[in-house]
Amino acid sequence: MALPKRAFIAGGSITSFIGKGHPDFIWKKHPDFGTKENPTWEEFLQQAVDELIAQTGLNPADVDRLYLGNFTGELFVNQGHMGAGLVGTNPAFANKPSMRVEGACASGGLAIMAGLDAIAAGADIVLVAGVEVQTTVSARDGGDFLARASHYSRQRSIDDFTFPALFGRRAKAYCEAFGVTADQIDTVSIKAYGNASLNPKAHMKAAKMDADTAAASYKFLSNEEYKPFVKVSDCSQVSDGASAMLLVSEAGLAKLGKSTADVAEIVGRGHSVASLYEDGDLTKLTTSADAVSKAYADAGVTAADINVAEVHDCFAVTECMMYEAAGFAGAGEGAKLAASGETGIQGKIPVNTGGGLIGFGHPVGATGVKQAVEIFRQMKGECGDYQIPNTPKYGLTINMGGDDKTVVSLVIANGAI
Ligand code: CAA
Repeated sequence: MALPKRAFIAGGSITSFIGKGHPDFIWKKHPDFGTKENPTWEEFLQQAVDELIAQTGLNPADVDRLYLGNFTGELFVNQGHMGAGLVGTNPAFANKPSMRVEGACASGGLAIMAGLDAIAAGADIVLVAGVEVQTTVSARDGGDFLARASHYSRQRSIDDFTFPALFGRRAKAYCEAFGVTADQIDTVSIKAYGNASLNPKAHMKAAKMDADTAAASYKFLSNEEYKPFVKVSDCSQVSDGASAMLLVSEAGLAKLGKSTADVAEIVGRGHSVASLYEDGDLTKLTTSADAVSKAYADAGVTAADINVAEVHDCFAVTECMMYEAAGFAGAGEGAKLAASGETGIQGKIPVNTGGGLIGFGHPVGATGVKQAVEIFRQMKGECGDYQIPNTPKYGLTINMGGDDKTVVSLVIANGAI
């Protein structure tokens, strides 16, 4: 079933994603420590919205609705009620309907879903943004905050680093079921860091990762059963940043003075949620696969039609399993696809071209919006050194919250093709 009303991405912005390991991130060993501070969530969001307005020529007074993805503002930056923060980015937004949307790491994807519903209900111009600042506490304390995306009372005790351990559990099950090796999974991180080195906005743009570095990376879990399956190099980054995009109807396009050739169209969307209280087959991302199948059905496409993808690589093994959920590889074959190089920038199906969550970074609430903006940028030839060689016709996103619990998947078509 196609979308009830046509919805277009008219432009998008992404701030630099920063955190430990980024040259500009101020921490105790940085030469500017004590004299300079890292940007606040308010500053990141302001920058993303200002850039979006400048890039699209938007008259801010024309915005009908605003949605903001954010996961844990209350814990990391003592701030809830961030929908009102989004309104505060421009005086012309005063008194417009705005709300924050939360679904763990899928918060940004949910903000897009809310925007699509608004378009279907008659809105013409919707501003969708995402923001997260997570570097205000140590990685270990942050592990506790991020554990709110698991079923806390049941799963928090698995490890101080709850999410790395939950995906260590999946990596163990996946490797044992399919004979997958750590070397194969490492190729995901090597690609992610390599792509990030071509992306000036990436958190890990200055870091190097090769097979030896990945193999020797530190195994930091305390949980003895899952410790062998997770290294620092496998993990998405604890990043700060924001992203924003403009979602418009056909009438909204006319208001902006743009044609369908200037923009991209969301032609399919899937939103699937599994129970927080139980875990299914650890070797498969069944909720993600369900969301993708809905998005493909909406769009009338199959995996073979997709030319570029952004998938939720919260950990390296997750990307392998996402290839399977997307239909790019069969069950247990995702790691082989990663190792084949076919998901690299020059490959048959480039995935996470700007570095993904591991290389570009993962400011949780911003991630889902950033994924859609990245597909838009690849379609419009805006990706500089990591631009893929052939202009894509269809792109796929998969944004996942929790351990395959809340998933939003989009199929995006290039308006120029
Ligand atoms: N040698 C010895 N010890 C080391 C070490 C090394 N080479 N590297 C790390 N360690 C130890 C540190 O000493 C530290 O222990 P203490 O807290 O006792 O000091 C611990 O390991 C962690 O190290 P750091 O504090 O230096 O960690 P870091 O800042 O380098 O971060 C990371 C690394 C812990 C892997 C961090 O990047 C991380 O937590 N990443 C995952 C983030 C995450 O889980 N995000 C959510 C993804 S899940 C999702 O997307 C779905 C959802 O809805 C949540």
